[in-house]
Amino acid sequence: MALADTADAQQKRADMYGANPFQIGLFGANLSSGRTATTVPERWSGDWLDCLEMAKIADDGGIDFLLPVGRWKGYGGASDFHGGGLETITWATGLLAHTKRVTVFGTVHAPLFHPLVAAKQMVTADQVGGGRFGLNIVAGWNQDEFEMFGIEQRPHDERYVFAEEWLDVMMKAWTCPEPFDYDGKYFQLRKVLAKPKPFGHSRPLIMNAGASGAGQTFAMRNCDAFFTTITNAGAARAEGGYARNSDPFMLENTAKRVAGIKEDARKYGRSIEVYTQGQVVCRPTQTEAEEYYQWANVEHADWPAIDRLLELNNVTRANTPADEYESRRQTLAKSGIGGRPYVGSPDRVAEELGLLARAGIRGIAVSFVNYVKDVPYFCAEVLPRLRKMGFRAP
Ligand SMILES: Cc1cc2nc3c(=O)[nH]c(=O)nc-3n(C[C@H](O)[C@H](O)[C@H](O)COP(=O)(O)O)c2cc1C
Repeated sequence: MALADTADAQQKRADMYGANPFQIGLFGANLSSGRTATTVPERWSGDWLDCLEMAKIADDGGIDFLLPVGRWKGYGGASDFHGGGLETITWATGLLAHTKRVTVFGTVHAPLFHPLVAAKQMVTADQVGGGRFGLNIVAGWNQDEFEMFGIEQRPHDERYVFAEEWLDVMMKAWTCPEPFDYDGKYFQLRKVLAKPKPFGHSRPLIMNAGASGAGQTFAMRNCDAFFTTITNAGAARAEGGYARNSDPFMLENTAKRVAGIKEDARKYGRSIEVYTQGQVVCRPTQTEAEEYYQWANVEHADWPAIDRLLELNNVTRANTPADEYESRRQTLAKSGIGGRPYVGSPDRVAEELGLLARAGIRGIAVSFVNYVKDVPYFCAEVLPRLRKMGFRAP
């Protein structure tokens, strides 16, 4: 196959086989409660049949991708937040078999999988999906989960050194036609041969969401897509909540951040697309949306689960001043455990997502309190508005 054909096949994967300037994915549906630590009865089950229904709605409704969360153990609380979770590569494989156009990611903790096992699992998913599988590579942070496996985490930045070697092995397995030996710091492998290769003379998209310097450098050197959290902390504090994205400060900061990331990637001779994540609550009127968001995210927040999540990030009442601690837990609850809320009428949600697109963000992975109940309205009302604004293909 000619190089140009391979590049073309790879570009089609990057475009997720569509022409949407601004891509939209669903985030976290493989876990119970999704990304909202809430006790409301309609919270997301994460069960297979619900996931299947969600994927079909997404596939038919024009959603570009599904991004699961790699989680091995929940955070407790009254809702047993994330207590139920489907493993992501097998989840993706099942969903790819039942869908036609949506790209489905698997989220892989590099330290928990041998790269050759993962490489073959992902090729299997990719073959099932006809080239629609993507990889979210995670270096790991949650010590509680790693203890469950009896695995000691490496010092923070070394996790990304390891992940880079892991990716190198995986990539060779995906591409080398002949047997190869590998002599690295962490892997010494003999006569490695893996067939088949990923679908269609191209390879799955690779993304990462590191927040640290080491994590970002890793993404720039190795990934097609980088997920970053957009906050407007200054404005948020001023309003005692989340300011609108249309806040000029927000747009300008986001645009600067995207440009900086792309510029940094160019220093490594690479181009990278920047994505972000958030939670959507969209209702016919602004008031209805805000009331529901307050009810689900705040009044019915699963506070013990949120406290546990903070504790795993080494933030406790004992080591944090009381007002700062309260502000951290409020932020986690309101942000869908660490994103940005997009709350409002279809006009407002479309306007705010459109501003991300204008700032150069390539796409967003969003969560909903209940994907099956909420995504159809989002697809019917918000996507056409984004289309009119030029951010979605006709
Ligand atoms: C969009 C997004 C998806 C993520 N997915 C996962 C995941 O599935 N599993 C996980 O353990 N961590 C996940 N993370 C956490 C990151 O991989 C990373 O550990 C975190 O941002 C801290 O960055 P650092 O490793 O550079 O310190 C995700 C983060 C973001 C923003």
